[in-house]
Amino acid sequence: MATILTGVQSSGRVHLGNILGAILPAIELGNTQENSYFFIADLHSLTSLKNSKQLQENILQVATAWIACGLSVEKSVFFRQSDVVEHTEMQWYLQCFAPYAMLANAHSFKDKSENLASVNAGVFTYPVLMAADILLYDANFVPVGKDQKQHLEITRDIAGTINHTLGDIFVLPEPIIAENVMTIPGIDGRKMSKSYDNYIDIFSEEKLLRKKIMSIVTDSLPVEAPKNPDTCTIFSLFRSIADSAEAELLRQQYLSGGMGYGKAKELLFEAILTRFATERTKFQELIKHPKYIEEQLLGGASKAQPKAREVLNRIRAKLGIRTR
Ligand code: ADP
Ligand code: TRP
Repeated sequence: MATILTGVQSSGRVHLGNILGAILPAIELGNTQENSYFFIADLHSLTSLKNSKQLQENILQVATAWIACGLSVEKSVFFRQSDVVEHTEMQWYLQCFAPYAMLANAHSFKDKSENLASVNAGVFTYPVLMAADILLYDANFVPVGKDQKQHLEITRDIAGTINHTLGDIFVLPEPIIAENVMTIPGIDGRKMSKSYDNYIDIFSEEKLLRKKIMSIVTDSLPVEAPKNPDTCTIFSLFRSIADSAEAELLRQQYLSGGMGYGKAKELLFEAILTRFATERTKFQELIKHPKYIEEQLLGGASKAQPKAREVLNRIRAKLGIRTR
């Protein structure tokens, strides 16, 4: 039985990109597998977030979003990364095998390295903590968005080096990247991301959601002009949530002219409400019960920890560190 594992940071609210790129594909896999580990990467989010209240709010929102999207807390192990302290110890061991040059080449660091004065060491070693998350559970498959591909390569690289040096310790994980859900664009056309403040929160109240969608940036072609669906953010978002017949219809309307961006935004707004009706209702109900969510996370951590300990002991033993 294969083990599936993935994590989502708690650096902000869960958005449509996270849901389509990571959460839904992971839940689909996880609900049919015996071993699945899903966690909130709160330690990773400390690289950017230093506000305790905000972090706790984010953790609650992210956890609620997962459960509202259909995660089964019975079938899967669902937890908060910082509750399983083995992650940080494992990170240290892996770090001692991670070449500096490989980490200096990671996009997550390189993208920020133009302004080195504001880069903390956590940003630099971020991929190693991610490798620890994955290797601690002998994960076979890691569903992630395309932007995480390089982090999986780094994980495999470190695991391969250690297996080669110390003997077989780690399972080499493979990414699962949904081909039809590539990078979801944000309202400004760049990758949708918490860090760009360009995201669509499908759980926000209708008025806010509508406002967000109405602020999607477009060119200034008039209503009657034929438009290129392939370069339009509204169309790209619509296609990612509507069924293929609806997307094809909108594509034709773009090409033949007469479809204004205002109307297309309305269609997108309606499509989001329809597609995520169940999830929205469930979210509104669950978010009123933070204690229940907290219990689920703590329960998940106590299920995750024995496995993490077992794998940690494997590497401790090979390195000459006392096992516990
Ligand atoms: P963010 O960029 O908003 O901080 P995270 O880095 O926490 O998002 O990503 C969590 C998961 O969601 C990852 O697997 C990531 O690849 C996926 N993901 C994030 N943004 C997108 C996007 N715009 N399109 C598709 N998948 C995404
Ligand atoms: N770095 C991932 C992201 O930003 C989140 C993450 C942390 C993760 N640990 C992980 C994803 C382990 C998959 C597996 O999206």
